[in-house]
Amino acid sequence: MNKFLLAPSIIASDFTRLASEITACETAGADWIHVDVMDGHFVPTITVGPLFVEACKRAAKLPLDVHLMISNPDQYLEVFAKAGAGNITVHVETCPNLIKTIEKIKSLGCKAGITLNPLTPASALDEALPLVDLVLVMSVTPGYSGQAFMPEMIEKVEEIRNKLNALRSPAWLEVDGGMTIETIPLMYNAGANVFVAGNAAFKHPQGVGQGIKALRECITDY
Ligand code: DX5
Ligand code: ZN
Repeated sequence: MNKFLLAPSIIASDFTRLASEITACETAGADWIHVDVMDGHFVPTITVGPLFVEACKRAAKLPLDVHLMISNPDQYLEVFAKAGAGNITVHVETCPNLIKTIEKIKSLGCKAGITLNPLTPASALDEALPLVDLVLVMSVTPGYSGQAFMPEMIEKVEEIRNKLNALRSPAWLEVDGGMTIETIPLMYNAGANVFVAGNAAFKHPQGVGQGIKALRECITDY
């Protein structure tokens, strides 16, 4: 019986209708709008930057959950905070001084998140875990929407859930990549409580409203 949040990933939406896509997410009961920032360096793809976050901010009432898949995120924290990010999540692989990065995100008035690639062990989070508001587990190799979920990540979510519980941390435990009505219940049972969805939300045959409704209804025991 735990609350969970849905964070549709806006890069899977139709950018020509950005404002109405965001409004549709809000009307359908989404909780955060997830924005995937990719730099073509830390990941092979280039998506969007701070100007896009700013445009989302103008259209959105919900918090923007900004996932930075970029090298040297420290250099850009301020600009993303100013653009309207509510949460800023950085990859541990990109932060030589993770504690300092988390403190900086918080000092900018944002919630601080950390994430890790599928091949990075959960132990890479240990030092920072007591300080964060959010932990994001990648259940695909970051870079593209529409990839298949990696079932090995169920165990990683369980491991991180145990660590958070041991710390009595209220941090959100979020999962990103290949989340569908089939995979969300698996991750929820493993201890996750925020689910990012790109394709499952925006590419639903009856539109994003129905996509989000189906994702909301796939967990019945909360
Ligand atoms: C993966 C991105 C995801 C992606 C999710 O590199 O971080 O947020 O957009 O898309 P789906 O849900 O389609 O896997
Ligand atoms: Zn993401």
